[in-house]
Amino acid sequence: MVVKLPFTPITRITTDFPDASKINSILYELIKENAKKAVIGGGKRTDFQFANNNRTGSKELKILSDWIYDILPQIVFLFAAGHGDQEYDPDLMGFHPTEFEIREFWGVHYDKGEGVIFHNHFPYNISFVYYLRTPEGSSPLILENEEIFLKEGEIIFFFGHQFHCVEAGDVDGRCSIAGNILYNPKVQITPM
Ligand SMILES: [Fe+2]
Repeated sequence: MVVKLPFTPITRITTDFPDASKINSILYELIKENAKKAVIGGGKRTDFQFANNNRTGSKELKILSDWIYDILPQIVFLFAAGHGDQEYDPDLMGFHPTEFEIREFWGVHYDKGEGVIFHNHFPYNISFVYYLRTPEGSSPLILENEEIFLKEGEIIFFFGHQFHCVEAGDVDGRCSIAGNILYNPKVQITPM
């Protein structure tokens, strides 16, 4: 008899950013102003390094990235466990939960009729999208053929290799901040 995995592994995690009401408006204006590059499907994005290492000097971006780094160990623990039935315990992991790095961090803005075609973020390990504005009538995120309606102030984490898209929507001003995360352990094995 073939042994079967006794659960359906987690492939996405959503949670709410507690300070959304304080900084979303400022971040929305910042992204809208700087999203000039067309994506395939019609949306506009900033450059992929826009928000890295507080390059813009925006304290609101730093607040958001600090919070993402705060929750990241628990996010990777959930992905590693594959289910939510275990208490967070970094000692259970065969890796360093604090040695993940946001390597790309950018903004996307969609007006009416704009979206982005199916793509993935391979070879990054984990990707996220944080929602600044999802006006009534905004298209959902489609992640591997599942429609996911996210609201302002919510973040979704998923695996970098998972295909996703946003269909052209009926409203202006759908806006998010996306990021790509790599595992980059400081401890290295030197071949003998
Ligand atoms: Fe994407």
